[in-house]
Amino acid sequence: MANTKVTLKRSPKKTTVGHARKKIVRKKAAPGAGKGLNDMRTELTALKKMVLLQKVKQELLRSREIGHAGVDTLLAEYLKVILNLTGTSAGSILMHEGDHLVFRASVGRDSKKLITRPLPLDEGIAGWVFENGKSYMSADVFRDPRWSSRISSELRFPTKNIMAVPLRSAEKTIGVIEIINKKGRRPFRREDREMLETLAGQLALDVSYAMLLSESLRVAHRRATQMELSMVLNSSLNQRQVRTQAIEAVTSLLDAEVGSLLLVDEKTGDLFFEVALGEKEARVKQIRLKMGEGIAGWVAANDQPALINDVQNDPRYFRKAQTITDFVTRNMVCVPIRSKGRVIGVLQAINKNGGELFTEEDLENCWTLSNQVAIALENAHLYAELRETFLNTAEALAAAVEKRDPYTGGHIKRVVEYSMAIARHLSLPLNDMEDLRLAAVLHDIGKIGIKDSVLLKQARLDHDEVAHMREHPLVGEDILGHIEQMKSVRKIMRSHHEKWDGSGYPDGLKGENIPIHARIIAIADTFDAITTDRPYRKAADWNTAVQEIKRCSGRDYDPLLVEAFMRACDAGEVTIIQG
Ligand SMILES: [Fe+2]
Repeated sequence: MANTKVTLKRSPKKTTVGHARKKIVRKKAAPGAGKGLNDMRTELTALKKMVLLQKVKQELLRSREIGHAGVDTLLAEYLKVILNLTGTSAGSILMHEGDHLVFRASVGRDSKKLITRPLPLDEGIAGWVFENGKSYMSADVFRDPRWSSRISSELRFPTKNIMAVPLRSAEKTIGVIEIINKKGRRPFRREDREMLETLAGQLALDVSYAMLLSESLRVAHRRATQMELSMVLNSSLNQRQVRTQAIEAVTSLLDAEVGSLLLVDEKTGDLFFEVALGEKEARVKQIRLKMGEGIAGWVAANDQPALINDVQNDPRYFRKAQTITDFVTRNMVCVPIRSKGRVIGVLQAINKNGGELFTEEDLENCWTLSNQVAIALENAHLYAELRETFLNTAEALAAAVEKRDPYTGGHIKRVVEYSMAIARHLSLPLNDMEDLRLAAVLHDIGKIGIKDSVLLKQARLDHDEVAHMREHPLVGEDILGHIEQMKSVRKIMRSHHEKWDGSGYPDGLKGENIPIHARIIAIADTFDAITTDRPYRKAADWNTAVQEIKRCSGRDYDPLLVEAFMRACDAGEVTIIQG
């Protein structure tokens, strides 16, 4: 009534319109007729909550991360407002998922126990409302044959009356809202049903929109991830990098807790964990599976994929892995990796995040990824073979040059070994190690341009001969001058006789201006020269050679590299190798 008076006061001249409004307002105000101040305050609070709900909704819909959690928040906020507006103490929102209705929001005693709980589609009043797509009011559930007391008894919830309405979107029922026990032991009325139906209409629209948005974002994210992963996988020719990236890809693409890659050992036919990311890596790597053993072994042996959402009850599951790793596998997607018509490994995603189950779509994504991984592994393998062939050719070339000088037989092999030992104690990146190895093999290849009279001379060289001999780094650089891929190696070859204090040749480079690989080779080269016989002197022993390197640290050699050399010596990795 108070609403009516305010409306009339604001339009004193428009009597007709005012009367009309009076009628409309009275008609609209009918549900509230007879309400006290407290009821009106409650309605005002409820309206404020509606406004808040709109804000929550807008925020959720704006959020790019809307997903299951976002939809659940929306349902929970709606339910609070619904209960407030209808003056009801408890209620739930159930959504249709597969063969069940699932409790997704709930208020009332022990309501948390209800969340995610499935209810058969034909059970109780919620089931009837879902199947018939119609609202339903039960004034006294104990006299209602449609009511199922199962859940109420379990939760010891004293259900008296219920009102339930369907959530309908695009001509389909997608869920049910049920509210229980009108406050003050009052019965539900027609007005309550109308309000609930209106709110249900709005909620169904919002939920459908949120789910659609969530689905589009998920598809867009999956496509972007697939493209990104494909680019990353194809950007590397390094075998270990490709394997690591494959694991990261399967974990991220399938939203799994962990991923792993097992490869088939060509000699034994066993499967071994090549890379396993996460804390358990060391323990996982101990596991080897016989072909056919465990789920991965089954996948490899049968060349078939596996999507298993209850791994613990699968007879193929290799329980020993769980004991070794102390890691509980809940569910898994596992697909073979095929190359040239045979299975070369298995890619696995383990435990879908958020307690969810893997889907057929996950399996499909894993298949696509395994094909990309197979190509990337094959490319990396071919590249490694090519590089090995190239390295062997370089070694053969260097050995041919070395043959000219009988006193330096085996020199290259030893310089390579010593250089790699120093590099290991510096933790050089893999690519640098490869360059170092190649440069160590080829470092003296320029000696091919040195005259026999100088190279093979059995006495000390005179001034001119020394000058001619000092041309070999430049000759070596020139020989490889036309090979673009050898650019970094050329620089190392040129600088392997430079000295830390700038007194070396050919450029007199100083300190860190000398490439690090050349600084390493310089130490290895000298250590070998001291420990082998030369035309004009006998070989010195290991200790003398080590002391000589130490003595020249900071003058001829980089002190940090000499320290790494000493660490390699202490570790027994620098021994005098017989050529
Ligand atoms: Fe040299």
